[in-house]
Amino acid sequence: MLFFSYAGSRWLAVAAGLLFAIPAAAQVYKNPKAPVEERVKALLADMTLAEKLDYIGGYKYFSIRGIERLGLPEILLSDGPVGVRGEGKSTAYPASVLTAASWDTAAAHALGRALGQDAKARGVHVLLGPGVNIYRAPMNGRNFEYLGEDPYLAGQMAVSYIKGVQSQGVVATVKHFAGNNQEWDRNRVSSDIDERTLQEIYLPAFRAAVQQGHVGAVMNSYNLVNGVHATQNAHLNNDILKGRWGFDGILMSDWVATYDGVAAAKAGLDLEMPSAAFMNSKNLLPALQAGTLSEEVINDKVRRILRIIFRYGFYDRPQLDRTIPADNPATAAVALNLARGGIVLLKNEQDILPLNSSVKSVALIGPNAKSYAAGGGSSLVPPFHSVSLLQGLQALAPGLKVSYTAGTLPPLEELAEKTPFYAAAGSQVAGLKAEYFTNQNLEGAPAATRNEAVINHVWPAAPDVAGLPADHFAARYTGVVRPTNAGLYKFAVKSDDGVRLFVDGKLVIDNWHNQGPTLRSVALPLEAGQEHPIKLEYYENGGGAQVTLGCYVEVLDFTEATRAATAAQVAVVAVGFDNTSEGEGSDRTFSLPEHQVELINAVAKANPNTVVVLNAGGNVDMTNWLPATKALVQAWYPGQEGGTALAEILLGKINPSGKLPASFERQWADNPTHDNYYDPDGDKRVAYKEGLNVGYRYYDQSKVKPQFSFGFGLSYTTFGYSNLKVVSKGKGGATVSFTITNTGKADGAEVAQVYVHQAKSPVARPLKELKGFTKVFLKKGEARTVTVPLDAAAFSYFKTAKNVFGYDPGSFDVLVGSSSALIKLKASVQVK
Ligand code: BGC
Repeated sequence: MLFFSYAGSRWLAVAAGLLFAIPAAAQVYKNPKAPVEERVKALLADMTLAEKLDYIGGYKYFSIRGIERLGLPEILLSDGPVGVRGEGKSTAYPASVLTAASWDTAAAHALGRALGQDAKARGVHVLLGPGVNIYRAPMNGRNFEYLGEDPYLAGQMAVSYIKGVQSQGVVATVKHFAGNNQEWDRNRVSSDIDERTLQEIYLPAFRAAVQQGHVGAVMNSYNLVNGVHATQNAHLNNDILKGRWGFDGILMSDWVATYDGVAAAKAGLDLEMPSAAFMNSKNLLPALQAGTLSEEVINDKVRRILRIIFRYGFYDRPQLDRTIPADNPATAAVALNLARGGIVLLKNEQDILPLNSSVKSVALIGPNAKSYAAGGGSSLVPPFHSVSLLQGLQALAPGLKVSYTAGTLPPLEELAEKTPFYAAAGSQVAGLKAEYFTNQNLEGAPAATRNEAVINHVWPAAPDVAGLPADHFAARYTGVVRPTNAGLYKFAVKSDDGVRLFVDGKLVIDNWHNQGPTLRSVALPLEAGQEHPIKLEYYENGGGAQVTLGCYVEVLDFTEATRAATAAQVAVVAVGFDNTSEGEGSDRTFSLPEHQVELINAVAKANPNTVVVLNAGGNVDMTNWLPATKALVQAWYPGQEGGTALAEILLGKINPSGKLPASFERQWADNPTHDNYYDPDGDKRVAYKEGLNVGYRYYDQSKVKPQFSFGFGLSYTTFGYSNLKVVSKGKGGATVSFTITNTGKADGAEVAQVYVHQAKSPVARPLKELKGFTKVFLKKGEARTVTVPLDAAAFSYFKTAKNVFGYDPGSFDVLVGSSSALIKLKASVQVK
């Protein structure tokens, strides 16, 4: 996938007259003590128009160019949001959805600080995170990078994260602005959202990032919003972000998300990334000369970039801090602590967890038990080291007998070794004919042709094919498949980037786009001895490269898994997705990856004491396996230290305290976006017809109830709620206080949630909306009174006719709960 190392050509010609600098009155900008705005003004005055036009397009894929003559340093950007990616190995934190599930703003702040430290250890000025797009449907391939379904929760977690990052002298970037709620066809789909829904559901987290977090940068999304690309959406960028919210930092595009340079320039885009493909002199100069674009528009963009550079001290000091270790135990500890607080216990029948001292043997089974699972795409960070669940259990419970069984088919890389391929019809030469091209479109004569017995290439650097560049090449593999036995044959391809597979001349796998390693498969009935022509086409665009092709008959054999499960007191099945099955660039399935349901059921049949540990960025279809299990632990993607945190939770060394940041529906059809998530008539427009009724806002007023509600999560202890007092405070405010008591047998933390509802309103409002929360750690028996302040925003809604947020004074219900469905206390308050 082209996630980094891009060296695209760019248009360099500038009119000779534009090369001359206007001499500065005084080089105030060199004075670190001068006010930021004065420095910005002075430096801007010293720039030529050519320099300015050049400045607003990215450089070397992840930089803003330096200008030596003016002392401007090159500014280095790096992903985000779950680790500092792109500068080699780094601490890999849990997925953002786990951060949201922690409901712990202090942990989110610590995460931000740690990311800031990691960034400085690598000389990174701008971190491309957090992501705050709303969780609308479970399949969105990037839910794991975001902060759940609720705008208030997402906003508060983002603010803490941003403040943490920026406290370290590193700029955070809130993304993807806006309405990027699916990966499916993300470059072409328009998210059609009515104004009130946009303002109340999809924008508040961005607004909080800007107004409370004072985020330094915002990234536009790939998609269109109401028919206009985000990068040229003046309503989003000029009216709302820069106008109403007063954002004074940098608005950058997502990587290759700019479509029209002049339109983007006018509509508020400040920086085209990764390079000035459209917003460049070639396109902008004619508009400037014709007077249809004012130079002040360009000045404003440059000013914003300079403002951030001066504000964060980038002009005055090097960003690289060699005193911070790259592999940093302190940031690894932050990753561990976060995982401990964000893993959610969803089911725990007969208190099977924590495993008590009478449990002496555990059968650990499943593809995710021994590996480090993380979501795929631009957020994927290679860690220096990681702890699997197996390693975590072994380290923390040396007295426990832990057996391990993968329980699934061998990985494709292994299966690819045994394929019934032959280089041509009638040929006895095993393998396929491989042709390699020095371009991505398989054009012209191949640069190299050879026979390859096995198609299994993972090329971290340049491929081992003479004459082929490291990036931007293609391959075609042809031959026949000639099975000896009839049967249903699985064709599976793992690729980074695009592939398409033809069998018998028919396109059977079409995955022709840029992506990280992604697995796709199809099952076809084949006759014994018959030949079927096959053709696999592959292209590589940049960064990592992989193409692996297998053809095999699946033999599902759970004998080992069930034998292990029977032999142990408890079976723990670790399943779910990983970076090849859930990630940026495409949506994932709602069902678990293939064979995992069968595996869980086979194990649960062999041993009723079965616990499932699930890796996923959101919900999965649980209907056909959950009833067979005793416990379910939602691990999300728990980061490099995840195996330790999970083992601690299974063993009771840590009491789980995460709560769902999204409603988990029983079946996909129950989700309010079900009929308007994919583009049903192919017009590339997704109408957000559910309006405000996203997640719990929908389930609250529907007969359909979710499997697990928003805000739900079990603990090894119990909590009591009492003594609710809600006091009206000044204009539009209230103070909520109540007592939480740890009434159970273990120390633990509770997330108390404060929801608000106005019964009598001139417009329809959700039955409840989260407006406050607090996470409190209580020793067993301990009680604490907590206070949650509510301000006017808590009672407001978007008054579409007036185009502003406001509230209608009157009576409001305040509901305090341990989840959106478990309301423990209720009171009403008169809001003045
Ligand atoms: C992603 C962004 C990311 C950028 C740079 C894009 O594909 O959508 O979130 O920051 O790549 O890696």
